[in-house]
Amino acid sequence: MKDKIKNAKSLEELQALYTETFGKNGTMTAKLKTMATLSNEERAVVNAENTELRGLFKDKQTELENAALNAKLATEYVDVTLDCEPKNRGTLHPVTQTLKDLSAVLESMGFELWTGPEIEDDWHNFTALNTPEYHPARDMQDTFFLENGNVMRTQTSSIQIRAMEKVGVPIKMFAIGSTYRKEMDATHLPSFHQIEGLYVDKDVTMSDLIATLRTLLSKFFERDIEIRIRPSYFPFTEPSVEFDMKWGDKWLEMGGAGMVHPNVLRNCNVNPDEYQGFAFGFGWDRMAMLKYGLDDIRKFYDGDVRWLKNTGF
Ligand code: DAH
Repeated sequence: MKDKIKNAKSLEELQALYTETFGKNGTMTAKLKTMATLSNEERAVVNAENTELRGLFKDKQTELENAALNAKLATEYVDVTLDCEPKNRGTLHPVTQTLKDLSAVLESMGFELWTGPEIEDDWHNFTALNTPEYHPARDMQDTFFLENGNVMRTQTSSIQIRAMEKVGVPIKMFAIGSTYRKEMDATHLPSFHQIEGLYVDKDVTMSDLIATLRTLLSKFFERDIEIRIRPSYFPFTEPSVEFDMKWGDKWLEMGGAGMVHPNVLRNCNVNPDEYQGFAFGFGWDRMAMLKYGLDDIRKFYDGDVRWLKNTGF
C-alpha cells in the first residue's frame, strides 16, 4: 500500500486508495476495529502504521495538488507584454484645473465659495450693483438680453449681491464661473470666466485688498507676483481701481477692484456707516493661458483632444 500511495498518479487514484485503506471496509479500518483485543505491543504497531499511512496520504495529496496547480499555471497565463489598444487616460481640462487652483488659493485665505445663476435678473446683475437702468455704465458691458428682461450674467459681481442678501455681513466670499458678453476675437469669447471676491467687515481697508490680490496671484502662479493699481471707475466701488500684474518686463491688465460702494451695501440692507469692504473681479481665462503656456483662448472650447494633449494635460 505504501508504494501504491507513493506512485499514485492522480488525486482520483489517491482517493480510491484512501477508501481502500480508511473507508468503511478499509484495511486499516478493520485493523483499528480489533484494537481492543490486542496487546500493548501490537497496538503500538497498528498505531504507528495508522500514523504513517495518514502522513503518506497527506503528503501525496499536497504533491498532487501542487502538480495540478503548476500544470494549470503553465497553460493559463496572461502575457502582460502583449500589445493592446492604447487607452487614453482622462485628465482635467486646463479651465477646470485653473478653477480648482484659484478656488483652493482663495479658500486657503478664508474666502467661502458661492455660486449663482448664469441667467440673471436685472436687479442682481445691474441695479443692486449701483447700475440702475439709466446708468451710462451699463454700456460698459455688451449684454445679451433675454426676451423676458433677464440677462446672461455679464459679471460674477451679481453673486456678491446674492451672498450679502442671503447671509448679510460680515462676509468673506468668492464666486467663480461663466459670464457672457457680445464679443469675440483671439483673446475674447462671448462666454468667458470670471472670479469675484468680496470681503465686508468693520475695518476692511484698501491695503487688505492689495495684499489679497498680491497673495492670490502669487499663490496661483507659485512665484512672487508684483502688482500695481491704477485709478478707474466701476459703479459698484468707490474708490475704484484696476490692477495689473508684472509678467516678465510687461504689465498685464488683470481686472477691477475697489471699496464696495455704500449704495451697494444699502441695497443689501447693510449699513455703510458701520461696515465697509473691498471687492475685486477679473476674467481668469488669460491666467490659465499664462500659467499653462497656451496661446489661443478659442482652443479652450474646441474640445480637440490632440490640442489638449499637446498642452501637457
Ligand atoms: N465686474 C467687473 C467687470 O466685469 C469687474 C469688477 C470690478 C468686479 C470691480 C468687482 C470690482 O468686484 O470691485 O468688469
